[in-house]
Amino acid sequence: MVIAIDGPAASGKGTLGRRIAEALGLSHLDTGLLYRAVAARCLADGTLADEAASVAAAHALDLSTLDPEALRGGEMGEAASVVAARPAVRAALFDLQRRFAARPGGAVLDGRDIGTVICPDATVKLFVTATPEVRAERRYRELAARGAGTSFEDVLADIRVRDARDSGRSAAPLMRADDALLLDTTHLTVEGVFSEAMKLIRAKIGKV
Ligand code: DC
Repeated sequence: MVIAIDGPAASGKGTLGRRIAEALGLSHLDTGLLYRAVAARCLADGTLADEAASVAAAHALDLSTLDPEALRGGEMGEAASVVAARPAVRAALFDLQRRFAARPGGAVLDGRDIGTVICPDATVKLFVTATPEVRAERRYRELAARGAGTSFEDVLADIRVRDARDSGRSAAPLMRADDALLLDTTHLTVEGVFSEAMKLIRAKIGKV
């Protein structure tokens, strides 16, 4: 079984993906971390503007060395969105994601193009969204709790820029697959999102 979850920045799809994977005993891959890791390599090397360097970083990526905590910062998200707009970077990360999805026990992948490009035959596809303001509020609280000195306005501006870039790019833009189930989390808690998602999944595949 493969569950594909897509949605814009800070829509809660990462947390949801983790919860669903735990509940169903599936492996989970937050694919945003792949683009973030490529961006982190480029930022460290001062090569963010160098497309060839970002493609090389994508080819060299090792899933076992990903450090989610170190990759979660806002600066990394913005840089990840920049490298993710390059078709050759996406191509370099394609096989790794497909192999993950093909794990014998089944998998949950979340990102922007999972239901459309990486796993078009996924058992269940969810498209998770919320208003930019609500997503910015959630991300702002998360950053503030970690002691980051960003303002709500800066977080909202960053989300709007990333939404525009992730949805407007020509390579695998963020969009809802025709057969993806829509989950608007604007008025839901984390728990509410999880229980709604499980209802949608059960309705789609029968008892779980
Ligand atoms: O989900 P996230 O915020 O961690 O993702 C960071 C960036 O990576 C996001 O702005 C766009 C890009 N991304 C992508 O293009 N495709 C994916 N499947 C996942 C992330």
